[in-house]
Amino acid sequence: MNNAPLTKNRYNKEAFTHSFRTMNKKSRARPFIIQATPLTPLVSPLFQAFGVTVYMKREELNHPEIQGNKWHKLRLNLQMAHKQNKKTLLTFGGAYSNHIAATAAAAQEAGLNSIGIIRGQELAHHRNRWSHTLKYAAQRGMAFQFITRAQYREKSLPHQLNTLQKKYPDAYILPEGGSNALAVKGFEPLMHQIDTQCPDWTHLFTSVGTGATFAGLINYAQHIPNRTLLGVASLKQGEHLLPSIQNWITQKKVNQWQLLTQYHYGGYAKRTKLLQTLMQQFERTFQIPLDPIYTAKMVAAFYDLLQKNALPSGSKIILLHTGGLQGRLQQTCIKSSLYK
Ligand SMILES: Cc1ncc(COP(=O)(O)O)c(C=O)c1O
Repeated sequence: MNNAPLTKNRYNKEAFTHSFRTMNKKSRARPFIIQATPLTPLVSPLFQAFGVTVYMKREELNHPEIQGNKWHKLRLNLQMAHKQNKKTLLTFGGAYSNHIAATAAAAQEAGLNSIGIIRGQELAHHRNRWSHTLKYAAQRGMAFQFITRAQYREKSLPHQLNTLQKKYPDAYILPEGGSNALAVKGFEPLMHQIDTQCPDWTHLFTSVGTGATFAGLINYAQHIPNRTLLGVASLKQGEHLLPSIQNWITQKKVNQWQLLTQYHYGGYAKRTKLLQTLMQQFERTFQIPLDPIYTAKMVAAFYDLLQKNALPSGSKIILLHTGGLQGRLQQTCIKSSLYK
């Protein structure tokens, strides 16, 4: 994988709206100030009928480009990259990865270079087949190295990482999805924010890809009896994530939590008519856009459990919007719904 050529991309200086580069080094090391996002009440006769109160925590609004959970996962990693005097963020992802888009934007904002090791060698020679995500990341200055699927599967083996680090000594290497211990720790302020905005919540739903976001929320949610955090796995066979989630849980006393593995709707990036319909209905009712890969499945899981009477009357339920809306720009449905 290390012989694959690097595709350098010019970045669009016009699009670089933040004045981050003009900041001194010290303030760059603490670039990401956290601002509270709204906790929007979702009012519907269905929720009233079941006697539950429902809110959406609007983390899709936390940053225009490094949106949702990405903002929290990248923040402390960027600080560490600066502390280690690294000049480049290097990470891995598929052609539609929210993490690739967010890393490119975050690196640019922090005055760092970025390299994306991308699954799909064929894309090296077919720029016309690049996804919206890749085009966007390229605009944000990310250079790509395209590798085969077989090479991609081996990307995290220690000898591969060592070789990459030798090839790019000034790179801070982030795992796929940006999921590491610092990413998990990055959720502490968000969880405090939620606990302050709604101290008596009983259920919190979030989407799960690698499980780092879920583990971060579990770690930092205030411990209160009868609280449950529910993680909705977007991938098939989500139970494989349990060991990593358990590893990332570092706090001794945590609330009850459960990984729901039955709401993958066919697997990552797959969807059914039912999911599509539910997503459109939700968006029309509440005027909040979702993404089909993560947040729509999380919302679907919530509705299913509600209708199965698994969420008792009196529950105060928070649905965490983890962002991912950049992925929708590829799709035509966006044109037909909220972004007209
Ligand atoms: C929008 C969105 N929500 C949720 C997740 C899941 O995050 P995690 O990998 O930390 O489980 C992702 C993953 O990248 C994502 O892009």
